[in-house]
Amino acid sequence: MGEPQPIVDPLSPSAIFLVATIDAGGEATVRDLLADLPGLRRSVGFRLPGSGLACITSIGSAAWDRLFAGPKPAELHEFPGYHGEKHQAPATPGDLLFHLKAEGADAVFELAMKIRERLAGAATIIDETVGFRYFEQRDLLGFVDGTENPEGQLAVTAALIGADDPEFAGGSYVVVQKYLHDLDAWRALSVPEQERVIGRTKLEDFELSDADKPLNSHVAVNDQDDLGTIVRANMPFGSIKDGEFGTYYIAYAASPSVTETMLERMFLGSDEAAYDRILDFSTAITGTLFFTPPNLFFDALPDAPAPAVAERESPSGNGVVISGNGSLGIGTMKRS
Ligand code: HEM
Repeated sequence: MGEPQPIVDPLSPSAIFLVATIDAGGEATVRDLLADLPGLRRSVGFRLPGSGLACITSIGSAAWDRLFAGPKPAELHEFPGYHGEKHQAPATPGDLLFHLKAEGADAVFELAMKIRERLAGAATIIDETVGFRYFEQRDLLGFVDGTENPEGQLAVTAALIGADDPEFAGGSYVVVQKYLHDLDAWRALSVPEQERVIGRTKLEDFELSDADKPLNSHVAVNDQDDLGTIVRANMPFGSIKDGEFGTYYIAYAASPSVTETMLERMFLGSDEAAYDRILDFSTAITGTLFFTPPNLFFDALPDAPAPAVAERESPSGNGVVISGNGSLGIGTMKRS
């Protein structure tokens, strides 16, 4: 298995999540950035000892086809979106995901600035979320978020591709969704009622007993003992000016099907519950699926795909074509 990106490391106090789409013709610049990212992270992180700066970079399905020739991760596809009777999880665009995390905001901000500079004219950053650690790793609903994440070898097995897809072993699939909370409605609930929505106690973060835990509680709907395990790195975010308070949901898994089953149960329902009650207080406004390659991928990117036939012919029609790897091939194509 290739060395993974730092997916299973503990949550950090600071994070920035950037989602970008690649502009037409921006592929070569994006490839250059992907190859240079490990070095850029080292340059920023080394100047801030103890910052723990990490950048987990992931690539969407359509972007993969534009950037790389050769094999594609077996389960990489577009996020389907989920349209339940009451609640929706939209599928939204995204070619690249940069999950920057560190002990402090300075390190993530500096590296995010560098990424923006390197993407200028080649890709558009369509979403930026600044995540922060909130009291005792709580979300803005006030509940501790992340407790039942797997640890150690269990986290490795849950998050990382193994022998099933040897070409991409050490990689992962990541789903991101931005949720906005209706804090007025949430705060109108008593604490015991909030606990029945989540399925855990608020102060001490213990799971409710089966007798006390409603079937439509968040924890019951997403029971990992039944559905499989994922590695979540959710972060709170918000804007005081806009009165916006949310959770950036981000989950890495060896197969996207585990997260997708959870989303189906949350939004479309199951035999046990019509939907996850957390959705009465949290609205998904984005949703995208990416593949997270292992570290070595960036040291030796796959070749770029061969350009489309029209692009491959030289403008003079002299039969000189540029092949996918940029080398010249003479007389291999003829204008019809
Ligand atoms: C509004 C967004 C969300 C919030 C605020 C939230 C919050 C929480 C909280 C407080 C817990 C209990 C503590 C813990 O184990 O972490 C939890 C558990 C969990 N959540 Fe979420 N979550 C959100 C969205 C999601 C989504 C979209 C999924 C899956 C697609 C998900 C999957 C899980 C899983 C698997 C668990 C652990 C269940 C178990 O005990 O096995 N969450 N979440």
